[in-house]
Amino acid sequence: MKRRVLSGIQPSGTPTLGNYVGAIKRWARDQSQSESFFPIVNLHAITIRQDPAELANNTLDTAAWLLAVGIDPSQSVLFVQSQVAAHSQLGWILNNYATYGELGRMTQFKDKSQKLGPEGQLAGLFDYPVLMAADVLLYDIDEVPVGEDQKQHVELMRDIATRFNNLYGPVFKVPTPTMEEGARIMNLQRPDQKMSKSDKDDAGVVYLSDSPDVVRQKISRAVTDSGSTIEASADKPAVTNLLTIFAAISDKTIAALEADYAGKGYGAFKSDLAELVAVELSNLQAKFSVISADRDKLLATLDDGRDRAAAIADDKLAQVKAKIGLL
Ligand code: TYM
Repeated sequence: MKRRVLSGIQPSGTPTLGNYVGAIKRWARDQSQSESFFPIVNLHAITIRQDPAELANNTLDTAAWLLAVGIDPSQSVLFVQSQVAAHSQLGWILNNYATYGELGRMTQFKDKSQKLGPEGQLAGLFDYPVLMAADVLLYDIDEVPVGEDQKQHVELMRDIATRFNNLYGPVFKVPTPTMEEGARIMNLQRPDQKMSKSDKDDAGVVYLSDSPDVVRQKISRAVTDSGSTIEASADKPAVTNLLTIFAAISDKTIAALEADYAGKGYGAFKSDLAELVAVELSNLQAKFSVISADRDKLLATLDDGRDRAAAIADDKLAQVKAKIGLL
């Protein structure tokens, strides 16, 4: 049997170069070697207040971006999380197999709650990793390809699965997170923060929809580190970030790029990177505009994904309910 892979993306804005390099690009690259599931996780998106019309629109657009990058719905299951009710139902059940202490230790919750203040500290935001566990555990998943920021959440779902299995026998497969170089793309203006799609209109975030001119501007204005050598190191976070993006898009290694740019300044390096990203994104945008224009086809693709996902998820949910005595 092919190994099973699942990873989700929130429709909380236009996907960024961070989503692309850290996740979506390799989802598409590896999909033929696995049976893959890609939920658009709109129930996760509502843990931060969303405009309803925008959320609905972003959900379809996010699906269109995934298809533009190359997710092939004849191979992979692309669906909307809220349309497969088993996710919410298993999420509620699993709430009783994760503790307040465990959830309170999640760094993403701590970061977001600090940013949002008491009004934004919704129970759903706290509980978010449990719903992620349900997303994955419903499908007997082997691998969860994610960016670095999600690793802790995948570790927690492993603990939840193991705890449940220890109580009731083997019900859940225990998934493994997988990450690659590029798993942590930072903001071009604030290299100590991850590039995030929920930061809107941010000069340090490259959105997949940015025009070539905007891409050139953002990359040419990206902050750099002191000194002028182009090398990846802990004391050069800004240049390391640019090299990581360059490597992921050009399929060259960082070492090869360091050799290519030895003795050259930031100017040449940044302008080559800007060209590379601009071309990559305009190719994606051309595909996106065709795919996103045909809303009916997009909806039909998601309906099909929902049916394929639900067939598996409902079965697992039934097993779980039987194990714990829910009629
Ligand atoms: P989300 O929507 O924030 O991001 C989608 C994927 O993109 C990765 N990513 C990044 N990778 C590198 N550099 C960055 N700056 C960067 N920003 C985002 C994320 O790690 C992720 O892989 N909670 C998840 C969605 C989710 C999920 C799941 C993932 C819900 N259920 C089940 C895996 C399995 C999230 O908010 O992703």
